[in-house]
Amino acid sequence: MTGDPVRAGPGRPAWDPNDVTGPAARGRAAEGSGIAMTDTQTSLPGRLAAVPGGEAETAVRADALSKRYGDVTAVREVSFSIRRGEVFAFLGPNGAGKTTTVRMLCTLARPSAGRASVAGFDVARQPRAVRRRIGLVFQEQTLDDRLTAEQNLRFHAVLYHVPRAQVRQRIDRALELVALADRRHDLVSTFSGGMARRLEIARGMLHTPAVLFLDEPTVGLDPQTRALVWEDVLRMRREEQVTIFLTTHYMDEAEYADRLAIIDYGRIVATGTPDELKRQVGADTVELVTSDDAAAARRLAAAGFRVRSGEEHLVVFAEDGEGLVPGLIEAAGVRVRSVHVHRPTLDDVFLHYTGRQIRDEPAGRALPMMARARTARR
Ligand SMILES: Nc1ncnc2c1ncn2[C@@H]1O[C@H](COP(=O)(O)OP(=O)(O)O)[C@@H](O)[C@H]1O
Ligand SMILES: [Mg+2]
Repeated sequence: MTGDPVRAGPGRPAWDPNDVTGPAARGRAAEGSGIAMTDTQTSLPGRLAAVPGGEAETAVRADALSKRYGDVTAVREVSFSIRRGEVFAFLGPNGAGKTTTVRMLCTLARPSAGRASVAGFDVARQPRAVRRRIGLVFQEQTLDDRLTAEQNLRFHAVLYHVPRAQVRQRIDRALELVALADRRHDLVSTFSGGMARRLEIARGMLHTPAVLFLDEPTVGLDPQTRALVWEDVLRMRREEQVTIFLTTHYMDEAEYADRLAIIDYGRIVATGTPDELKRQVGADTVELVTSDDAAAARRLAAAGFRVRSGEEHLVVFAEDGEGLVPGLIEAAGVRVRSVHVHRPTLDDVFLHYTGRQIRDEPAGRALPMMARARTARR
């Protein structure tokens, strides 16, 4: 959908043709929006720019945002808002409409209906103002692997009009944010898939965006590398106060987000913090094995606990299973042999809202990053 990155010729660095602020797309975006992209003014520091209209705490807002492609409705009346400094995730299977939503918010695709604003600016009416305040990392890799890490960043700094006096400092900072400072002079061709991905994230941060969009930043990476990417994301939020919107189809990692929306067939089916969503689908369960389950069950029920006797153990239902354990052991009044707390997972949440499990979905669009990971030289 987003096509191949423009390959570099000798002395001609590659850029992402879908990157609206890159030269290839500037013309295109300007055609679409009727705005001449000749602005050489600095947008730094993007996130300190004034946010109009009393929405200072809202970084991203979507109201009934929809996108149709012919007969296909890729995104259906999606509404949500993201507070400044939040890490917000869109969790959904392939084809759910995640990338389409990101593209609308980044002004790469025009909404068919509804509205959205980013950093206080309307994506349809003020696309240039939006573009100056966002960083964007695509699913597909768009680095030039014949350049070093630093050269890739330098090129981007020029494209984004990072003031010359700040370039060095921002490159140092961006590399620090993804823990790649010691690899700055290495060719990207020597990077693993995970390192390349993290360098792209650094590049997205170079011009100090107010909102960083990461479309499936961890797809195709091994679990350890995925964890490193998340460390980077949380560090950027903590140390640069950037708002982060990311998409994923990995349930386990959506847990790291402050809040998330579950999207399926273009619709948001649930929104909340990971804990709120899990609470919506049911209480924690605490399984107890005791020296006398029948006696324990009577005492626990008398003490006001919701208890069910099973064949091999007792089950107690509770809002906060872990917090309840000491009280349960005391109230049971018999010897407790084992305790197991089960908390609903996001898998349970997805199943509850969609009637199926996300892992049943085919891999589909995960391919570009997987291909890169396979061919990456170490
Ligand atoms: N440019 C396009 N033209 C036609 N259909 C598209 C286009 N982009 C996406 N779609 C369709 O919209 C739906 C959502 O796609 P997408 O946003 O890429 O989902 P996700 O990123 O969650 O995998 C899919 O059915 C996809 O085939
Ligand atoms: Mg996608």
